[in-house]
Amino acid sequence: MQIRDALSRAGDEVELFGWVYRIRSGKEKVFLVLRDATGILQCVIGSEQAGFKDAAGLSIESSVRVNGRLRVDERAPGKVELRVSGLEIIHKAERFPITKNQSAEFLLDVRHLWLRSRKLTNVMRIKAELLKLTREWFEKNGFTEVTPPILTGSNCEGGADAFPLKYFGKKAFLSQSAQLYLEALIFSLERVYSLTPSFRAEKSRTRRHLTEYMHLEAEAANCDIECNLKIQEELIAHVVNGIAVNCETELLELGRNPNKIRVKLPLQRLSYESALELLEKKGHPVEWGSDIGSRDEEIIMEEFDQPIFVTRYPRGAKAFYMKCVDGKHAECADMLAPEGYGEIIGGSEREDSITKLLERMKEEKLNEKDYEWYLDLRRYGSVPHSGFGLGIERVVRWLCKLDHIRDTTPFPRLPNRVTP
Ligand code: 4AD
Ligand code: MG
Repeated sequence: MQIRDALSRAGDEVELFGWVYRIRSGKEKVFLVLRDATGILQCVIGSEQAGFKDAAGLSIESSVRVNGRLRVDERAPGKVELRVSGLEIIHKAERFPITKNQSAEFLLDVRHLWLRSRKLTNVMRIKAELLKLTREWFEKNGFTEVTPPILTGSNCEGGADAFPLKYFGKKAFLSQSAQLYLEALIFSLERVYSLTPSFRAEKSRTRRHLTEYMHLEAEAANCDIECNLKIQEELIAHVVNGIAVNCETELLELGRNPNKIRVKLPLQRLSYESALELLEKKGHPVEWGSDIGSRDEEIIMEEFDQPIFVTRYPRGAKAFYMKCVDGKHAECADMLAPEGYGEIIGGSEREDSITKLLERMKEEKLNEKDYEWYLDLRRYGSVPHSGFGLGIERVVRWLCKLDHIRDTTPFPRLPNRVTP
């Protein structure tokens, strides 16, 4: 049995397995708080019990099996405690290195142990639910999951941020985005999505960048920007509102009010120019043509308590594959999360004319040869299509109200850290 179930079984005789979360020993009794994947439970061992001495000598994080009878106790966490009649020590732990008030860097050094904390356990559960709800939505809406490669010869998001690697004497990279491959797959499957790690060699140490993150990407044929934004809104509402219900306990333990994150549709839209006007009004002018930075996003989002779309950026501020409109703008949108969490989705309608795509590649000084196969997609049955990429950890950070993105993933990869 697991602790979650034991909490509603007062009166029953049970056997439980877990780790020692806290321990306090007196002359008469040992109070041991047991932890398993589902919760914590107070266990009491009286001095008359055979295992009393062993229990008194236990250290935190030791693994044990206990049995006994559950009874109601108003003072215990969960209001139920276990009167232990048998204790089996599976492994007596050495002195656990993590104590209160340790630095963030130290906790990253012992990340493999810190993963046992309630905070990270709750975050990992919410992340798992997010992945589950994501797949659920795509499956219901006619998308096929595909598995694009991580090793690639074609850069998607530009050279500077790619991790190069040796590949049997050829140049290759770790994938920054599966987009170009998903674009190839729509010609057979029409609506596809993938969940893969993406890699960004961004040296900047910010609270929202990882060098390796989970990227959810989708691409659809016969889909213009309107259709694209509708997919994004419905997906985000399904996932976030699902988490607000299914992960209420975890959110509350993390200090997040589930009602505060609920998404109401439709999401508001702000053109790039209106965003600039707003920034100007708030005393933070940005020059036309520049991308909107993370500080700018924070300032814009002071005015909204729901995610919004910022649409139609100047084409020069965005990637080569985006469709151009009116000679100046890209048919794109970024979804920004409220409360300063910034960009969570980047998406666009893709340029489907080979002539215009080649012009943009020239402007961006990209080598045509590197993209020969991609250009073929505009030679054989080209079709208007759209897609987007969502940073899973960015969304988790927002939903869990986390200060830093590193706590959204078990083993964060940061510019100064690849271990443990
Ligand atoms: O905006 P980005 O760079 O867009 C693309 O890669 C497109 N090719 C995606 C597509 O259309 N298929 O990245 C998409 C999202 C961002 O909105 C952000 O949420 C996340 O990926 N992201 C990161 N998350 C964590 N750490 C980083 N360094 C990230 N860089 C981007
Ligand atoms: Mg982006």
